[in-house]
Amino acid sequence: MSSAPTIPALLPTYAPYPFLLLRGEGDQVFDDQDRAWWDFYGGHCVCATGHSHPKVVKAVADQAGSLLFYSAAAALPVRDQAAEKLTAFAGMDSVFFCNSGAEANENALKMALLLTGRKKLGCFMGGWHGRTLLALSVTDDPKITQPFEDQLVPTQRLPFGDLEALEAADFSELAGVILEPIQSMAGIKTASKTWFEALRAKCDAAGTLLIFDEIQTGMGRLGTPFAAQFYGVRPDMITSAKGLASGVPMGALLLTAAVASELKGGDLGSTFGGGPLACAALLATVDVITSEGLMANATAALATLRKGLAGSVVTEVLGEGLLLGLRSAHAAALKKHLLTQHILVGGSGDPTVLRLMPPLNVSPEALEALVAAVHAFEVP
Ligand SMILES: Cc1ncc(COP(=O)(O)O)c(C=O)c1O
Repeated sequence: MSSAPTIPALLPTYAPYPFLLLRGEGDQVFDDQDRAWWDFYGGHCVCATGHSHPKVVKAVADQAGSLLFYSAAAALPVRDQAAEKLTAFAGMDSVFFCNSGAEANENALKMALLLTGRKKLGCFMGGWHGRTLLALSVTDDPKITQPFEDQLVPTQRLPFGDLEALEAADFSELAGVILEPIQSMAGIKTASKTWFEALRAKCDAAGTLLIFDEIQTGMGRLGTPFAAQFYGVRPDMITSAKGLASGVPMGALLLTAAVASELKGGDLGSTFGGGPLACAALLATVDVITSEGLMANATAALATLRKGLAGSVVTEVLGEGLLLGLRSAHAAALKKHLLTQHILVGGSGDPTVLRLMPPLNVSPEALEALVAAVHAFEVP
């Protein structure tokens, strides 16, 4: 009889860093030997206010002590305040709270299908939107989409940022068009303001709903509250997650009044979405981002890195604010070298681009350490 294979209790998903992580503070995390690591991966682009920001920790602890949970079956002041604060910050009119990025996108796409009665979705080459079935349909990552090919909804996929291709496309059958305003996983790809304006006009002309997936670009990361403000284009829906509540799981679907007024009670729902703990964390997160100047810090950090990395093995700094790509022909070796210097960065779908998405309050010391480590790198 053959013996059953040994399966770890925790199903492996990502290849983890080579240490056991015990705690975090600001832009650093500490392992089980109390060694510090500069976190330019930002806990997976989540820890917008830094690790365990005291104001966020206090807000969560206070809320946990008074009411840990009640669903939307009960009205909660903390949920109403969170909705007011987030919609004002994002420049949108209404919000539905859920629990993750994929769930926010799934609901946005589902509402586009529902409201238009159309059956097709628009999306972009290189786009990444999550692992649920509608989100997968608009994701350009054959590794995870291929096994489900015949269960996905029909899409029209355009090249990102290409004005000519956009002008030539026919949107008349599209319920909604979804995009990451800066394509992250694809290798930090950006598009021009003109292209964003043309996309808005094209959607308006065709009655297609424009959806910004701001799961990475939102919550101050580009130096503005959301990419919608950065590019000066207001979409019909914005999805948010990751940094939204500084690490307490939370997703949001932000809507214009025109879209929200078309929805009926019961079109959207979630047991955990908008739970008091997440709402308290969201309130503290927006407060920290605005009161501690984190958006200005994101913009300044980019200038520091552009200047500091000039003349190094990094030939281009891509992106905006603190959603950045370091282009280098030696990206894989550079990533390994940075790890030996206790600096965590991310890879991307482009083998020549490493990604940086640190806390928005990344310190001058962290930036200095990164710049010095890159300059010390010797091409193998
Ligand atoms: C741009 C973008 N959209 C959607 C998602 C999915 O979010 P989640 O993992 O919270 O479901 C991610 C996650 O990495 C993302 O980066």
